[in-house]
Amino acid sequence: MQLRSAQWYAGEDRNAYIHRAWMRRGAPGDAFTGRPQIAIANTGSDLTPCNAHLTEVAQSVKNGVYEAGGVPLELPVVSLGETQVRPTAMLWRNMAAMATEEMLRANPIDGVVLLGGCDKTIPSLLMAAAAVDLPAVVVPGGPMLTGTFRGTPLGCGTDVWRLSEEVRAGTLSAEDFTRSESAMIRSRGHCNTMGTASTMALVAEALGMVVPGLAGTPAPDSRLLEAAHGTGRLAVDMISVDRRPSTFLTRASFHNAIVALAAIGGSTNAVVHLLAIAGRLGVDLTLDDFDRIGSSVPVLVDLLPAGRFLMDDLHRAGGLRAVLREVRDLLAPDALTVTGKPLVDHLDDAPIWDTEVIRTRSEPLVAEGGIAVLRGTLAPGGALIKPAAASPHLLRHRGRAVVFDSIEDFHARIDDPDLDVDADSVLVLRGCGPKGYPGMPEVSNMPLPKKLLEQGVRDMVRVCDGRMSGTAYGTVVLHVVPEAAADGPLARVRTGDRISLDVPNRRIDVEIPADELARRTPSEAATAAYAQPERGWQRLYIDHVLQADTGADLDFLIGSSGSEVTRESH
Ligand code: FES
Ligand code: MG
Repeated sequence: MQLRSAQWYAGEDRNAYIHRAWMRRGAPGDAFTGRPQIAIANTGSDLTPCNAHLTEVAQSVKNGVYEAGGVPLELPVVSLGETQVRPTAMLWRNMAAMATEEMLRANPIDGVVLLGGCDKTIPSLLMAAAAVDLPAVVVPGGPMLTGTFRGTPLGCGTDVWRLSEEVRAGTLSAEDFTRSESAMIRSRGHCNTMGTASTMALVAEALGMVVPGLAGTPAPDSRLLEAAHGTGRLAVDMISVDRRPSTFLTRASFHNAIVALAAIGGSTNAVVHLLAIAGRLGVDLTLDDFDRIGSSVPVLVDLLPAGRFLMDDLHRAGGLRAVLREVRDLLAPDALTVTGKPLVDHLDDAPIWDTEVIRTRSEPLVAEGGIAVLRGTLAPGGALIKPAAASPHLLRHRGRAVVFDSIEDFHARIDDPDLDVDADSVLVLRGCGPKGYPGMPEVSNMPLPKKLLEQGVRDMVRVCDGRMSGTAYGTVVLHVVPEAAADGPLARVRTGDRISLDVPNRRIDVEIPADELARRTPSEAATAAYAQPERGWQRLYIDHVLQADTGADLDFLIGSSGSEVTRESH
């Protein structure tokens, strides 16, 4: 088989000479004659602290690649630190995916090992790999170990929300709140709750893009390096059988990813990422597939934010394979993985070691989990809610809208003692969609009004066109499509309108006649707050970004361009 990299390296002409000579730098003489060139796309960065250890993981991948006869080539790619980058990491996901895609295509490589961890990094790598369609395999960087504060385990994200609400409610001092900071992040690795990073690592494995059994291995665990080494070897093998994403990522793979997402009680963010990945592959996946396939799947994993435990507990209890074994009958039997074997074939020897952490099918954490897709006059294009993270008594609710035109408006007024709001009100926040913010930030789980917290209120119905951190919880209707800035009905809602949420019937409505809603002009204050970037990525982004129901990718990035580049550089 002729390697793709031979287009650069084979032959005696001047161009081949240039490609080899500049790369040689001590490489053995046969490095360019038939040995697979394996890129290691590394999102390791000091400014993506969850991924900082990936450079060490890359070394193990390199060892495996060399051992199998390949040549490993580390390729630093755009990295996104969820907690650091402004205005929101999601704004840059498509940019990271586009930059990685182009660099994979432009370079003399035959395949790629993708190293990710923090929320947007695995999604952007998978979007890139799908669009280039070279053999590709993911090594998730793994969650951090559980930190404890005053004897109690801390869950990243989830407990920040919880502790900060306690400070606002006056039950925790500001000093103790600050003191918990260094306990929250105990070790290398990504967030240890079932947030987006954990979710996307596990979902990538269910999709078939990770060696089964690897996802969820804690970042400091020696077995991560062992598996990274093995994945390096596998990448070389994948070249010889031409196992590209398009050869095994099918609708059946996404079916399995959705079953896994539901069984682990995973983040709503996975919906938007999976839709974007499917869009690159040309796999016909819709928002409704998540409800149809996932909503009857039991939640088996008892992790924060929906449950009690953390990622190293899940690993100790048997990991994703043990979870999937319990729902094996719901999985697509023919969906293949990077190993060339079906996912279900990897589940034979996968016992549950702790049935508190991974529940059995007969004693699920939540009988019907997954993510519910809502529609109605407030969200004609769809909206999501994660019932497992919501309060059961609010899943059917009618209340008076209290509307905020931007996140700044929200912060300015939410704690105002004179704000006309009670526990039955529905908090509505707009201008937080892909175009409006821009980048669809994780603000949908709005903090509750201080005066209601002091009365003991701990949850309210909230509606927003943004996203929610996978580590958050509450009765939150999010990803409202169309967003307010795309002239959705959300832009026309007014404080005082009645909003009704009916999760069993999958409805989210504003109770005003359709003709009256259509006659209203969008809120001027909301319109004034929408982003209006003049140049750069943000300009490109708001001109081309699609809505959340199709993955919030850019319109011109849908689909694949393959790996072919015919023109030489000189
Ligand atoms: Fe990186 Fe949570 S902030 S995974
Ligand atoms: Mg996040």
